[in-house]
Amino acid sequence: MNTSRRSFLAGSLGGLAVLRASAATKPHFFFQYDPQVRKLLSQMTLDEKIGQMTQPDQMYLKSLDDIDNYHLGSVLSGGDSDPKTGNDLNSWTDMYDHYQERALKTRLRIPLLYGVDAVHGHNNVIGAVVFPHNIGLGCTRDPKLVEAAARVTSEEIKATGINWGFGPCVTVPQDIRWGRTYEGFSENPDVVKVLGEAANRGLQRARLDDPLAVLACAKHYMADGGTTFGTGVPRVGSQRFGLDQGDTRVDEATLRKIHLPGYATTVAGGVGSIMPSYSSWNGVKCSASKRLMTGILKDELGFEGFLISDYAALNQLPGDYKQQIETSINAGMDMVMVPEHYVDFFHHLKALVTEGRVPMARIDDAVIRILRTKFAMGMMNPKNPQLADRKLHKTFGSAEHRAVGREAVRKSLVVLKNDNHLLPLSKNAHVHVAGKGHDDIGIQCGGWTITWQGKAGATTKGTTILEGIHKAVAHSTVVSHSLDGSHSEGAKVGIAVIGELPYAEMMGDRTDLHLDAEDVAVIQKMKSAGLPVVVVLLSGRPMLLDNILGSADAVVAAWLPGTEGDGVADVLFGDHKPVGKLSFTWPKDSSTSLQRGDPGYKTLFPFGHGLSW
Ligand code: BGC
Repeated sequence: MNTSRRSFLAGSLGGLAVLRASAATKPHFFFQYDPQVRKLLSQMTLDEKIGQMTQPDQMYLKSLDDIDNYHLGSVLSGGDSDPKTGNDLNSWTDMYDHYQERALKTRLRIPLLYGVDAVHGHNNVIGAVVFPHNIGLGCTRDPKLVEAAARVTSEEIKATGINWGFGPCVTVPQDIRWGRTYEGFSENPDVVKVLGEAANRGLQRARLDDPLAVLACAKHYMADGGTTFGTGVPRVGSQRFGLDQGDTRVDEATLRKIHLPGYATTVAGGVGSIMPSYSSWNGVKCSASKRLMTGILKDELGFEGFLISDYAALNQLPGDYKQQIETSINAGMDMVMVPEHYVDFFHHLKALVTEGRVPMARIDDAVIRILRTKFAMGMMNPKNPQLADRKLHKTFGSAEHRAVGREAVRKSLVVLKNDNHLLPLSKNAHVHVAGKGHDDIGIQCGGWTITWQGKAGATTKGTTILEGIHKAVAHSTVVSHSLDGSHSEGAKVGIAVIGELPYAEMMGDRTDLHLDAEDVAVIQKMKSAGLPVVVVLLSGRPMLLDNILGSADAVVAAWLPGTEGDGVADVLFGDHKPVGKLSFTWPKDSSTSLQRGDPGYKTLFPFGHGLSW
């Protein structure tokens, strides 16, 4: 380990003791494979090297033989890039095998890295266990549980053969109007650095060549959660500019203090890949920044794995496509998520090398990093099968896996308010359940579920919140329900399951964080029928509660809990005590800015708040 890396870690993580602990427990030493990697490299043509650096989205592959024609080292399925035959387990497994079989017939037989956004379980595949989004896991403050959830995720990914998940997201969102707030464990770097590393450990396991391990990817490097409002991607409609893919305008000390710790711990834990962010730091795109990618990450932190660009992120750099590639590769990008124009990418990068604009040494460095990861994963061992192990289909979505999801749900719940000890509820009293999220697996899962943006409805298998309540109460107890809160007469208590509809990335940037009028009306309807009301809030961030706080007797933040809705009833009906603590500060109203740290920001519930009984 070089001196600069040592002093950085000691400084930012609070002392040498931490450094020693992380170095001693570091599970993957990628460098050790370099003798084998160099031998292989010496047999590779320039075309074959460039192919390792090229990652198309499978949906843009013009023919299967392009895996051979362009010597591809990787493909991905982006948000909505599904198998042609459907989103079921067999279709995903068949799709993976189809591509991998072709790669195994190429001259050098280097297997493909296949990447997916398994960001809360293997969430593209129907029947996978979908865990709470990271914002909920952050409220558990439980690294063991986060690791266990990631282990289930890695096993379910591997059931489809896929070997690379684009997570954990170690973003540290500073403004909850950002549509990706829920992808972050917390606004607080101390929470992120511990839980991010736990997730990495669960995905990559003790050894990357464990048949149940997948390659992890810490993202989005760096400071994607620190963008200044108004600097993000152009939007349609009234909200023309949001926060997504914007510019983080902070000095380097702030950058290191808030946004770097999650990378320091995942790198120390051996994360094999990192995804630079679409966003910029003080006007320079992260994918173009030599300071961030090579200086801080590789030279200073000693990152041994490889960098994968975000989806078409290079297209946002200045200049034409060839210049964009030149800038990013020379700044330290190792593999490019092209995703569509892979033929152009391949020819441009080859020309840049022959023209001397990208040094051969940079190409070799990138390919060494990619291949060293493949060696560490056991992919280069001809004895290891690279096709899917379909025996793992047996445990895909199993009761045992769902139990981990359920535990994560109940521990992520944060009781914000509980007047007159309304909670826990009796299992013997008639309860009326209402609201758009009360019986909707799609809403409770949120974005990045089956589809990129997620959607309401019966999109996958699991237990809705209503079904969980049915299971929790006594056999004879009446559970009535309605979408809008009507017909609640006769019930002793109302439960309003309300909040946000699914969204992902920039589509989730919002300036107004009030609840919809229809959500407020659900509560009012049950109140006018004389019921005390428990609000279960499904949302990807704290919402403004000033419209409902006076009328709701109890409020539980359930975040985006995923498929195991019975974890909600576990707490509501007293089988488990609430333990969740806010991982984000909860703002009071919209009278001032919602950007944390702005003067005049008013707090309703502080970071760490969470009631119990
Ligand atoms: C997102 C990444 C994701 C990638 C691949 C991008 O739009 O920013 O988080 O990993 O797509 O789907």
